[in-house]
Amino acid sequence: MKLQKFFDRAVALGMEYDPRGKKQIEKMFKKQKERQKKLEGKELEYFDVERTWNPYPDSRIINGEADSEFTHLMVGIDIETPELLLADRLRSQGRKIDGALIHHPDGRALADLDKVMPLQVDLLMGVGVPVNIGEGLLRPRMEKLWRTIHADNLFRTEQAAALLNLPAVCCHTITDNLVWAFMEKHICSREYDDLGQILKAIDEIPEYAKFSKKGNPPIIVSGGKSSRPGKICATEFTGGTNGPEEFFEAKARAGVGTVLSMHVTEKALEEAKKHHVNIIQCSHIASDSLGINLMLDEMKKDDPKMTFLEVSGFLRVERKKW
Ligand SMILES: [Fe+2]
Ligand SMILES: [Fe+2]
Repeated sequence: MKLQKFFDRAVALGMEYDPRGKKQIEKMFKKQKERQKKLEGKELEYFDVERTWNPYPDSRIINGEADSEFTHLMVGIDIETPELLLADRLRSQGRKIDGALIHHPDGRALADLDKVMPLQVDLLMGVGVPVNIGEGLLRPRMEKLWRTIHADNLFRTEQAAALLNLPAVCCHTITDNLVWAFMEKHICSREYDDLGQILKAIDEIPEYAKFSKKGNPPIIVSGGKSSRPGKICATEFTGGTNGPEEFFEAKARAGVGTVLSMHVTEKALEEAKKHHVNIIQCSHIASDSLGINLMLDEMKKDDPKMTFLEVSGFLRVERKKW
């Protein structure tokens, strides 16, 4: 597998399971292309051409050439300089590693993390929250995230990858879309008497079972084991990062009873409890692993020679279909 081919396939997969739908994404590309045509000088120079074909600002190649070999991968949730050094060390011991597949964004993928968040508006529309409410609530949170990330030391990992000559790709919202679709299909669409039954169903998914065994099971953080679930949705699985706390009130008003999430802030939890929304916090790293696994299964179909070395929390589980 070549690096660009891998990434193109990853973007296509993300779009296949995107809550915004293909039509909406095509419209975004068209607008970006029209914008690009009107720009000149510095503005044109700084324009991110990637936005005309990749709807995931938090997912991109952060090091390597398009035709770099990308068949034997180190795969991790957070890959930074220590993991890249580990890759280099293992390579010097004879292990074949062509490059790194990273989940949590780094480099420009991190610099642009806020720009993927509008996807949350569509996600919320899917459970009945009007677009104006979603947009109005999201905007201040996006601005806050932009300011926070803006002060980060963003390009350490990509510099390290360049020095070690290791191609590296971040796939964040791409694989989070896959795990969202998986949870909607296999957990949210089923009927349960209580939250305890949902916990059991989640724990039947191999990634969650593996993490449960290690002391990191899915947990109920709002509501109780015997609480009735009402309408269940996995709205806290994709869209860059946590949305604003106010989303819980909006979801409650839209008729949501139980939210599945990867991580919840204390403030958001308070809001959810205030509005009687149940929350199951599905183990974060197990959830991220699940999304990556669904993508790697597809990659492996395209190129059966591919191998994946698990690092930084990632655990590999293979599926034929789901
Ligand atoms: Fe994730
Ligand atoms: Fe994550």
